[in-house]
Order: sequence, then structure tokens, then C-alpha cells
Amino acid sequence: MTLDSGKVMRSHKTIRIAPSLLAADFGHLAEEIAIVEQAGADWLHLDIMDGHFVPNLSFGVPVVRSIARCTQLFLDAHLMIEDPLRYAPAFADAGAKNITFHIETTDNPRPLVRNIRKLGVQVGVSLNPGTPADAISDIITDVDLVLVMTVWPGFGGQRFMHECVEKIEWIAARLGAHQTLEVDGGINRDTAPIVAAAGADMLVAGSAVFGSDDPAAALGALRSAASGSSPAAADTNV
Ligand code: DX5
Ligand code: ZN
Repeated sequence: MTLDSGKVMRSHKTIRIAPSLLAADFGHLAEEIAIVEQAGADWLHLDIMDGHFVPNLSFGVPVVRSIARCTQLFLDAHLMIEDPLRYAPAFADAGAKNITFHIETTDNPRPLVRNIRKLGVQVGVSLNPGTPADAISDIITDVDLVLVMTVWPGFGGQRFMHECVEKIEWIAARLGAHQTLEVDGGINRDTAPIVAAAGADMLVAGSAVFGSDDPAAALGALRSAASGSSPAAADTNV
């Protein structure tokens, strides 16, 4: 596959949206999830933070287990934790269907990918803004998903880092049609078209969806912006 053909292939992919629960009201998780599920969210993005790999804590296995009981949505676990293999089995058992680890947490990613896959889940690898794209060269063909961070992980509501767009393009040119290129951080109606044009096909959005008074409408607006269509055209798949 030439780099150009890879880019052309990806430009035809449908853009999917994964709302990030980090920006939801944690006192009403079931209701918040139901709203985005009914509004047509493709995946639900779960940000797991350990206070070591990132300077923040979020939620853990028991919460993921409860979430899995109240939704049919595909659960996309973004592990911002050191030693991801130590906890991956528990997240898989709790209902995560994709488990993404950070490349910065390991010197030996190949066995890590194999061992996470053995849990019966999809495997993703993520890169911090400061990590060069070729850090994942050894495993880029082995993973189901690459997650490019467009903010420094740890907090929602940060500003999109435009300097990461080139990395999205580099990775897009090297992924096969069956692989997902996910982008996370500062995604809104202005930045969604930029990452979609660069080759991303799964857009994570926290504040832009759950920070809105009307998360269902915000999800639709984001999808329309990403696919470069009017809301009416997006609704009818024209
Ligand atoms: C950041 C998380 C993101 C976060 C995105 O560490 O990985 O998923 O929730 O939030 P927004 O969309 O508000 O930038
Ligand atoms: Zn995330």
C-alpha cells in the first residue's frame, strides 16, 4: 500500500463519534449515557486515570461494570495508567470492548498487544502530544486502533493542539481500512473537520457533547461538522 492510497482509502471512511463520559454528570451517569445512546453515539469513551501516568484520577473497574449493565454501547476504555496489563483483565471482565494503552508506558509493546488481545477485546495504542508517530512503528499493523491525543491527557476541556495534525496524517497514511484512527482532546465543531480531513475516523468528544445543555443536538452537530454536511443531510445519510 502506498502512503497516498492509504490516505485516499481513509478519506472515504464514515466518521464515528465516541462521547467521553469524563465531562458527564457523574451523579446521573445512566441518564447521561441513555441520552447519547439514543442520539446515535457510536462508542462510549471511558477515561481511566491513575494519578501516576496522568496527574488526575477518574473512575475504575466497578464503575465500568455498572456502565456496561446500563448500555448496549461499545465501551472504549482509554487507560491512562502505568502498567496497563496489570488492570486490563479487570476492565475486559467489567465489559470494556476496546482497551487502549499508552505507548509511553512500555518499552516492549508487542507482548503487551498480544496479551491484551488474549482477553478477547480489541486493542488500541495511544500517543501523547510529545510522542513521535514512529514510536508505534513496531505494532502499527498489529493494533485495531490508534488513538492520537490532541491535548495532554489527564483533563477534559483543554484546547486542541494543532501541532498534532501532522501526526494524524502520518498515521492515517499507514493504517489499513479495517483499523480505526481515533482522536481525543479539544474536539468540537471547529476542530472536528480538521481531524477528519487529516484521516481520523473516530472522534472522542467530552465537553463538546456533555458540556452542552443539549448533548443529543451537540452530538448531531459534531457529526455534521466532521462529515462536512448540513445536519439535515447527515440525518438522512445523503
Ligand atoms: C483527556 C481524555 C479525553 C477527554 C476529552 O485526558 O483522554 O477523553 O475527556 O475531553 P474534551 O473533549 O473536553 O477535550
Ligand atoms: Zn480519552
